[in-house]
Amino acid sequence: MNEDVVQLVKERINIVEIISEYFPLKKAGTNFKACCPFHQEKTPSFSVNEAKQMFYCFGCKKGGDVITFVRDYEKISYPEALRKLAIRAGITLKESKAEPRKNTHLEMLFRSYELANAYFKDNLQQFGSEAMAYLAERKISNETIGKFDIGYSLNSFSGLKNYLLKQKIDEKDMASTGLFIVNDDFVSDMFRGRIMFPIHSIRGRIVAFGGRNILHDQKGGKYINTPTTEIYQKGDELYGLHLTKYEISKKGESVICEGYLDFLRLFESGITNSVASLGTALTVQQINLLGRYSTQFNFLYDGDSAGRKAALKAGYLVLKEGYNVRVTFLPKGEDPDSFVLNHGIEELVKMIESAEDYISFVKNDSLLELSSKERIEYLIDLLKEFDRGIDLELLVKKISEVFNVSEIMLKRKIAHTKKLSQNISKESLAYKFREESYLIHYLINYPHCKEKVCNEINRDYFFSHDNRDLFETLVSIQDITASNPQVIIDGIEDEIIRSKLIAVIFEDIPENLDIDSILTQMKIRKYQSELKELNEKINLGENGIDFIKEKINIQNKLKKLSTKVVSKTIY
Ligand code: CTP
Ligand code: MN
Repeated sequence: MNEDVVQLVKERINIVEIISEYFPLKKAGTNFKACCPFHQEKTPSFSVNEAKQMFYCFGCKKGGDVITFVRDYEKISYPEALRKLAIRAGITLKESKAEPRKNTHLEMLFRSYELANAYFKDNLQQFGSEAMAYLAERKISNETIGKFDIGYSLNSFSGLKNYLLKQKIDEKDMASTGLFIVNDDFVSDMFRGRIMFPIHSIRGRIVAFGGRNILHDQKGGKYINTPTTEIYQKGDELYGLHLTKYEISKKGESVICEGYLDFLRLFESGITNSVASLGTALTVQQINLLGRYSTQFNFLYDGDSAGRKAALKAGYLVLKEGYNVRVTFLPKGEDPDSFVLNHGIEELVKMIESAEDYISFVKNDSLLELSSKERIEYLIDLLKEFDRGIDLELLVKKISEVFNVSEIMLKRKIAHTKKLSQNISKESLAYKFREESYLIHYLINYPHCKEKVCNEINRDYFFSHDNRDLFETLVSIQDITASNPQVIIDGIEDEIIRSKLIAVIFEDIPENLDIDSILTQMKIRKYQSELKELNEKINLGENGIDFIKEKINIQNKLKKLSTKVVSKTIY
């Protein structure tokens, strides 16, 4: 991406103007406000700052510049958004040089999957009376069949093969597509007599297939699936997300089920913010893919102990990744598909809406074959994964409520297994992190002070983990001194860090910040907290003399700093 073009585009257009074309903005103080388009809310927390040319939502914490806004609002790629805005700004982008296409193999793969799907769809319409009858019996409508490109593979070893040969895909290439059985270089159709469910990438390209057996005498499993290829990594995609992502991000919630037919049943019944994980355990990649659209995960797995176990494991990972989890308990023997057909969609919606949070699920679910002791130990294990203060505090509180055990006991247990005690006590001192934000503001606006800052303080002076991450990111930027705020922000690749940085920049700060007093304040807080920890140790009667010496040392440092502050205010 050409940095100059990005900056030029941003100079020529105004974020307020661009966003106003999508929905109205209202002036409120220094910012413009609206209800956030990225999550559902009643009072506006989506803010646009004209001076900084940025947006930030105080509700869902999404933020960025005009290009990322267009990217995320229109759900298109960054280059596409840039191109759109460049046209508005009257800038012609040079197309990247017409190199000879390197990726002909990838192109061949995409093409084969697309052709195969066209072929399967055609089969279903022309020769698929049995398959159509099966789908009708399963109450899948023609509209859904069309929307999700459902097809049918003939009960033949060479149907797809011959079709692809006609389309000029050669046999050698076919062997690498994963659509065929290969025997001594001879290829034959892998899917025969199956309903074909294409799996789309998030952008809507077909990258894999699952095929459900509908013939009684058919060998092989109920489902067979294409393997990992260069265009498909198992565990990277979620079934249906290419169509449901809009609704998921609008609702701020997703519903996760296990199977194709569960997903399709939900979709047909109007639950259009769901995805299917397709039998395998939910991966961290899938979680973060879904997390791009919403932070609330609702598990709707099959009503059996395998389904509950899968929800237990997946929920654990989701919490660890920083999102929220609820679990709907389907009755034994039901999956979402059968439940809707047997009891109606209203009943299911009710259940999803009143679903329990993860902690209560672990405590209460009877299909989870675990003793009470195992349940709480499982959660303590989870807590060990957290070093973020607030999330940890909230979880501890919740577990203590649900299991009726004291927070202290829980914390002791965690501290016992991991040296987390330090973090907890630091966070619970309820420090205000103002100085830290000021410092980050200062570093961004006056990057030439980086050397001075690094000479005087380091990461240990930060009590907020978020601010500490930001600090470390900023000082690790080599040429930060020669940069301006916009370029610094754009240069940060990690989306989470970037959005946190934007959040800090959006905070109101006093005018005339002075780096010396910020640094002094940070040192004072650090020494005070050290002193507090020392006092606690001394009170506990630990190794007296050394601690008392150390205490005097810190007290002296503090005294020096305080005189500095006092003399400053006098002048
Ligand atoms: N699955 C698979 N291979 C299997 C069984 C299951 O890949 N042998 C995947 C499929 O993606 C399937 C999901 O796991 O959709 C859930 O499996 P299951 O609950 O057994 O199937 P359903 O989707 O409920 O299908 P059906 O209702 O037709 O039995
Ligand atoms: Mn089923």
